[in-house]
Amino acid sequence: MIKKYFIETFGCQMNVHESEKISGMLESLDFAPATSREEAGIIVFNTCCIRDTAEQKISGNIGEVKALKRADKSRIVAVVGCMTQQKGAAEALAAKFPFVDIILGTSNLYELPAKIVELIERRARHRGKVVAVSFDEKPPIDETVPVTRTSYPNAWVNITYGCNNFCTYCIVPYVRGRERSREPEAILGEIRALLSNGYKEITLLGQNVDSYGNDRADGFGFAKLLREIAAIEGKFRLRFMTSHPKDLSEEVISVIAETPNFCKNIHLPVQAGSDRILKAMNRKYDRASYLRLVDTIRSYMPECGLTTDIMVGFPGETEEDFLDTMDLTKRVRYHNAFTFVYSPRKGTVAASMADQIPYAVKRDRITRLIALQNAITEEMSGEFVGKTYEVLAEDAPKPGKLCGRTDSGRLVNFNGDKSLVGEFLNVKITKNKASALYGEIENNG
Ligand code: SAH
Ligand code: SF4
Ligand code: F3S
Repeated sequence: MIKKYFIETFGCQMNVHESEKISGMLESLDFAPATSREEAGIIVFNTCCIRDTAEQKISGNIGEVKALKRADKSRIVAVVGCMTQQKGAAEALAAKFPFVDIILGTSNLYELPAKIVELIERRARHRGKVVAVSFDEKPPIDETVPVTRTSYPNAWVNITYGCNNFCTYCIVPYVRGRERSREPEAILGEIRALLSNGYKEITLLGQNVDSYGNDRADGFGFAKLLREIAAIEGKFRLRFMTSHPKDLSEEVISVIAETPNFCKNIHLPVQAGSDRILKAMNRKYDRASYLRLVDTIRSYMPECGLTTDIMVGFPGETEEDFLDTMDLTKRVRYHNAFTFVYSPRKGTVAASMADQIPYAVKRDRITRLIALQNAITEEMSGEFVGKTYEVLAEDAPKPGKLCGRTDSGRLVNFNGDKSLVGEFLNVKITKNKASALYGEIENNG
């Protein structure tokens, strides 16, 4: 078989980083990266099931490899990640896509190399497949998994796995298990090693970074972790996601404010602006406390870039509830908002709530919300023009073109050679086209 792999990743940054671990595991079996499905001997789908649209798209993509599999039967097709971890999903996937060879859940993803070896042995004897989804809700954290990073100059670093919040709309707690925190020393050691290997930006990952350490007996929490990271010498950027408004503490806000290496950028999903809906979502904060938190953040860091996730069409959402969401969006003035149409997820509390909202209503609301946020983002983008910001050059999308972010998280496009990727540059913002910012390198200070 061809000793090359191709991974298709869907979903959040957690999955993006997990795909780097899948790459690491496959490279430990001497597979090399391929640039397309066609040239790969093993094709891995790392899946997401946060919304129905994600699942539909992934199913379509998996369906496409049937012909490739027929053309070369030695190919291995693996489906891993959140989609497989839903109740009954592995069996359903195996029945729907008989050409898939390996199905692994999120909690035993680390068995992938062993399962590939097992599959190859089975094939020598008869045709077979490996379906192995573990329903262990607290699988131990494996610190030995190799990682092949693909996101230089940024590096993703998990601090927690899983989620305990059970927001009523959300499938994540069911497919990612209970919250587990990594040992502080493992996190700090990984960050130190990354920085000494030249990485310039560290992004801490967790479904709710603020509850880091809640499962520890010694009280070592997120603020303490941040203080330890703040003590690391040298210039780098630290970001993290996602913050939960019920848990983001003033202590954490003040550590971010006082640490030059920490980006003044917080992703603070609000989901809805109506107290009734927030309660039904089990978010455990209300509109007033959310707005107070935003005020606190801005009193410490007036320039802080705030972004959010907002959902429309949650069961029972009235026009009035929706207008509360619109009003909150206007008040906060987010740099950017990720907007979603509520999608019922089997097994969650909200999926069986009465009063599901018709699609046409959801469509209408999301269109209005997107128009509002686009206008806000565009207006705020205009405020960047004429000013100079420190930008970390992150990528060279085309020859001579670079892009990177300001400390506050805004993406800037500018001209420059790809050798500058990984450099901190002073970039003067020259114009904005709708929400996109364009600039030029001022001097390499
Ligand atoms: N842990 C993060 C969110 C992870 S999911 C947090 O608590 O903020 C990312 C976003 O997807 C959520 O913030 C929510 O806005 C959206 N989302 C989650 N479940 C959804 C569903 N069933 N339908 C539509 N959007 C959903
Ligand atoms: Fe889902 Fe809520 Fe957990 Fe975020 S905090 S992953 S929205 S259950
Ligand atoms: Fe999707 Fe799983 Fe992330 S459901 S959003 S990939 S945690």
